[in-house]
Amino acid sequence: MSKIVTIGNATLYHGDCREILPSLPKVDLVLTDPPYGIGSLMKGGTNTGHWCTLSGGNDWDMELPDIAPIIAHGIHAVVWGGNYFPLPPARCVLAWRKLNAVPTQADFELAWTSFDKPAKMFSHVSGGAMQRDGHPTQKPVPLIEWCLNLAPKNTSTVADPFMGSGTTGVACANMGKSFYGIERERKYFDIACERIERAYAQQRLFA
Ligand SMILES: C[S@@+](CC[C@H](N)C(=O)[O-])C[C@H]1O[C@@H](n2cnc3c(N)ncnc32)[C@H](O)[C@@H]1O
Repeated sequence: MSKIVTIGNATLYHGDCREILPSLPKVDLVLTDPPYGIGSLMKGGTNTGHWCTLSGGNDWDMELPDIAPIIAHGIHAVVWGGNYFPLPPARCVLAWRKLNAVPTQADFELAWTSFDKPAKMFSHVSGGAMQRDGHPTQKPVPLIEWCLNLAPKNTSTVADPFMGSGTTGVACANMGKSFYGIERERKYFDIACERIERAYAQQRLFA
């Protein structure tokens, strides 16, 4: 591990979540958006799901992480792209319907959750490169805030072990929750630090 940054109630780790997460306290909610191997497919990997027809693929997206120890770190969990992982049957799956979807791309994305409540759908645009802060699969902040609102009322500590550009950390800052974030790629870690710092700075401005 090379760096730990604390911003407000957020503690951010630059490093590999498989090494760092076991050393952190257990949280109320793991809310995450792991890589699911599209990069591997683009480079001749052996995964043969229907997603091999997708275009794109990133260097960080080369492997399907073992999801069981990740979700076990929270009392509850939300896993975006959960349909790619071997997870138990779920009552409460979440769908993000992309209002600006084009025919060659997904109309919606799915999340697996451990919540005992009905399945829910959120409709929101998917940001283009101009709206994102430098991460190719950055999730919209309102989507992650919606997930936090669906979590049990007493959820106060949240972890995102695949933090990317820090969207979960921004949503937690906006909603007064403690956050642990882990990101392996230095450039995305730095973007996450900047975004979460900005979210706290905005709060101070309006306090
Ligand atoms: C799908 S992206 C998350 C995007 C994020 N939801 C956002 O809004 O920016 C997954 C991230 O996990 C990171 N990652 C992959 N394997 C990791 C690992 N073992 N430990 C920590 N981060 C990892 C990748 O670098 C990538 O940025």
